[in-house]
Amino acid sequence: MSSQGLALSNRLRYLAWRVRRIDVGSVLERARETAHAHRKWTPAVVVDMLWSAGFRQVGFQDYVDYDFAILNRAERATYMTHPVSNEISQKYDHPDYRGLFQDKVEFDRTFSEFLRRDWMVVEEGNADAVRAFAEKHGTIVTKEPVGQAGTGVHRYHAADVSDWDEFHRDLLSRGELLIEEVIRQHADLAAVCPGTVNTTRVTAFFDGEKTHILAMAQKFGRGAVSDQMTFGGFYTMLDENGHAVGAGYDSHSHVHEKHPDSGFVIADFQLPMIDQVKEFVDQVARVVPQIQYVGWDIVVTPDGPVLVEGNWGAGVYENKPSVTGIRTGHKPRYRAAIGF
Ligand SMILES: Nc1ncnc2c1ncn2[C@@H]1O[C@H](COP(=O)(O)OP(=O)(O)O)[C@@H](O)[C@H]1O
Ligand SMILES: [Mg+2]
Repeated sequence: MSSQGLALSNRLRYLAWRVRRIDVGSVLERARETAHAHRKWTPAVVVDMLWSAGFRQVGFQDYVDYDFAILNRAERATYMTHPVSNEISQKYDHPDYRGLFQDKVEFDRTFSEFLRRDWMVVEEGNADAVRAFAEKHGTIVTKEPVGQAGTGVHRYHAADVSDWDEFHRDLLSRGELLIEEVIRQHADLAAVCPGTVNTTRVTAFFDGEKTHILAMAQKFGRGAVSDQMTFGGFYTMLDENGHAVGAGYDSHSHVHEKHPDSGFVIADFQLPMIDQVKEFVDQVARVVPQIQYVGWDIVVTPDGPVLVEGNWGAGVYENKPSVTGIRTGHKPRYRAAIGF
């Protein structure tokens, strides 16, 4: 891609970082997988993956996830990729304000009016408050505030706890410092997976005046505390009306026509209250205008959307051609909004 708007130095730094981090074994593994899936010759896929990474800003996982092996050059050019997303984050998310998003306690403080649920911080000496909070809500979600890459979220039932001092001490020692009330999701989301709160990922760019919605994906869990892939979750992209564009998939070669537990046909999913969702994203995007590019995790509840978190390093959710038949991605929308 041409990216006059994005600093060359950032780009080179990212590339150098990638090259240093290349894990040859895992590249070969992924190339073999994708070659097998699409009946291609593995060495050709390896060369194409490396070339795409070096000259087209396509991460190895992007290449695999979005089936680049079966896309032509023009189709590939429409896809958003992680290296490009990373550049946008670096350029449009001011370093001084990233902490407000990175630290989940800071985030809950900053966005408290949009959480629409109870939350508290675990501190030395507040075992009684933790007990009162847990007993009031029955079930609680705890979070390690920083950098757990999708694994730092836990769930406990007050009824299972007998020694509250010990429970409190263990939360402190494991760094589970944020406690939240469990979000109650809309019945249309619970119909797909009732045991997990299923979040909608809305990637948006605030240009100082207007909030542009760049892409929307619906994640679904498998009954665990989190809908993240590390907990078995998967996603489908949504169209502008909040309707699923096809079946679900993850980054581990699983495709789900139906939710494996409920049998819900993923392609039939319609996100409720889509207009309120867009309005809500516009509101939260204005709270910290220095962080312009964000992947918002929100949940539609019976009373409207609520905020789970905002990711300043937004990540990428895209169409998977072999699953949906859709061979184009969202990059033109990013270009139109951000102007690169
Ligand atoms: N208060 C909550 N109640 C119910 N489920 C939650 C709550 N907070 C988070 N979750 C679930 O856990 C997932 C991960 O939480 P999140 O705060 O986005 O952390 P991360 O994405 O960094 O792991 C969410 O997508 C959602 O499925
Ligand atoms: Mg999240």
